[in-house]
Amino acid sequence: MDRRRFILLGTAGSVAVLTGCGGGGGASSAMSGGVPPPSAPPTSTQVPSTSPTALTPGQALPDLVRLENASTTPNAFHGTLVAERASKALRVGGSTEFWTYNALVPGPLIDVFEGDTLQIRLENRLPQATTVHWHGLPVPPSQDGNPMDPIAPGSSRTYEFTLPVGSAGTYWYHPHTHEHTAEQVFRGMAGLLVVRSRTDPVPAAIQEKLLVISDLRLAPDGSIPANTAMDWQNGREGDYVLVNGQYQPVLSIGPGQSQRWRILNATNARYLRLTLDQHAFTLIGTDGGLLGAAVPGLSEILLAPAQRVELIVTGGLAAGASALLQSLPYDRGTMGMGMMGSAASNIPLLTLSYSGPAAVPVALPTALRPIAPFGVPTATKRLVFSAGMGMGMGMGGMGGGMMQFLIDGKSFDPARVDLTSRVNQVEQWTIENRSSMDHPFHLHGTQFQVVSRTRGGVPILEASLAWQDVVNVPALESVVFNVIQREVGRRMYHCHILEHEDQGMMGVLDVIA
Ligand code: C2O
Ligand code: CU
Ligand code: CU
Repeated sequence: MDRRRFILLGTAGSVAVLTGCGGGGGASSAMSGGVPPPSAPPTSTQVPSTSPTALTPGQALPDLVRLENASTTPNAFHGTLVAERASKALRVGGSTEFWTYNALVPGPLIDVFEGDTLQIRLENRLPQATTVHWHGLPVPPSQDGNPMDPIAPGSSRTYEFTLPVGSAGTYWYHPHTHEHTAEQVFRGMAGLLVVRSRTDPVPAAIQEKLLVISDLRLAPDGSIPANTAMDWQNGREGDYVLVNGQYQPVLSIGPGQSQRWRILNATNARYLRLTLDQHAFTLIGTDGGLLGAAVPGLSEILLAPAQRVELIVTGGLAAGASALLQSLPYDRGTMGMGMMGSAASNIPLLTLSYSGPAAVPVALPTALRPIAPFGVPTATKRLVFSAGMGMGMGMGGMGGGMMQFLIDGKSFDPARVDLTSRVNQVEQWTIENRSSMDHPFHLHGTQFQVVSRTRGGVPILEASLAWQDVVNVPALESVVFNVIQREVGRRMYHCHILEHEDQGMMGVLDVIA
C-alpha cells in the first residue's frame, strides 16, 4: 500500500486526497511572527463552486477513516501511524500543508474492544520530535507518550498496551511533545479512539455517529500560521470550526430515528457550548464511558477542550426539516479577545437534515452500567492554578509583560517531580483556579469522579457519578474529585488549553509503590 496517498475525506462526490510532502522543506516550526488570520469568517464564495473542498459548507458529514488492523489474532490490534506532512488545496490560490497521522485530518479512527492488546507503531517523518499520547486510557506510563519520551525525526517506536475490561469509552490520541503539543495539534494531529464493550447496553439499533470537532486557521496564502502572542495567552481558536475535517457539513437523520453521537472536542482552546435547535440531548456518557443512567432533556452541553460526550439525539421533526448544531457564546475569561473569541457569537457546526426513512424510536435501558463510588479518600492534594506576569521570554518570544500560567506557582520542568501518590490509594484532589480565565484540568492514566464544584465560591455536590479525565475549572472557582492511580510511574497533569500546557501549566505526578 502506498502510504503517501490516502483519502482525506471520503464523502460522496468529493474525494479529496492529501499528498505527503516527503522530505522537502516548507513546514515552519517557528513560534513567532505568525501571519495575521483572516479578519472575517470565510464565506462559501471563497471556495470554488465547481469542486467542493473541506471548507465547502453543506457537504455530507464524512465518516472517519479507520486505522487498518494488521493483526489476524483475536483481541490484538496492530496498526501503524505515520506522522507526516500532507498538503491539500482548500481554497483558490493556495495549498495548505497539514501535519497529520497517515495524511488524514482528523487522524484515523482506532476502533477496538475492551480486552484488546494494541501495538501501534509510530513512524516520525516530521521535522520535529513527536510522541503519541493515549488521552484518557489506563496505559502504562512508559507507553503513554509523555513529553519525556520523544520520538526523534526519522525514527519510530511501537506503543503497546492492553485495554482492561471496564474501559469502554470515547478517547483520543494526540502528540505530547515538550513545548510543541499545541503546534502539532493545530496543524492537524489528533484522532479518535473508541473502546467498545462486548456487552454494550445501548441497543445496536441506535445508529452511531462519530463527531470530531477541530478548528483551523488559514493565512491568506492558505498556510496554517504560527501562534500569535494573543494565542499563547488565550489559547488558539481557529477561524473554521470543522466536524470530521469538514466545514459545516450535513448529517442525515430519519424522522423518529435515534442516533448515538460520540463527540470529541479536539480543539486547542475552544469551548463548545453545544445546542441543537428544536431538540434536546440525552447525555449517556462522558470521557470514560457510559453514565449509570441516561440524563434526558438537556438543552445544551458544555464541552471544554479535550472532553468527550456520548449523546442520544432523537429525530423529532418531519421529513424535509433541518436543525442546526451550534456552539453558543461562552465567556471563558480570555484577555483582549473582544468580539473575536468564542464569547461573541453562535458558531454553526453542522446541519441535521431530515432525509432518511422514518423510524420508530428505540428505548434506552433505564440503567446503563453501574458506577461504583471510590472508597473514602485516605490522602488529599490541592493544586492552585494561577496567572502572573512573566519575567522571562514567553513562547511567543515576547519577553516580559506576558502572562505566565502556573500550577502551584511553578512552570513545568520535565526533570522535576511535583507530586507523589501511592498506587491504588483513593485520593481527593482539589483544583483551585485563582486566575480570571477558565482552565480545563486533565490528569493522565486514569479516570476520576468529580465530587463537587463551586459556583460563586459555594460548593455544589455533583448530582451523579461519571468517569472523567478532563474537568473545566472556571475562573476563580474550584473542583474536587476522587481518583486512584493503578500503575507505578510518572503521570502528567495539566491545563488542556494546549498553549498553556506548552508554556508550563503542567506538572509531574510520581506514582509510587
Ligand atoms: Cu490530551 Cu496530557 O493530554
Ligand atoms: Cu491525556
Ligand atoms: Cu489554561
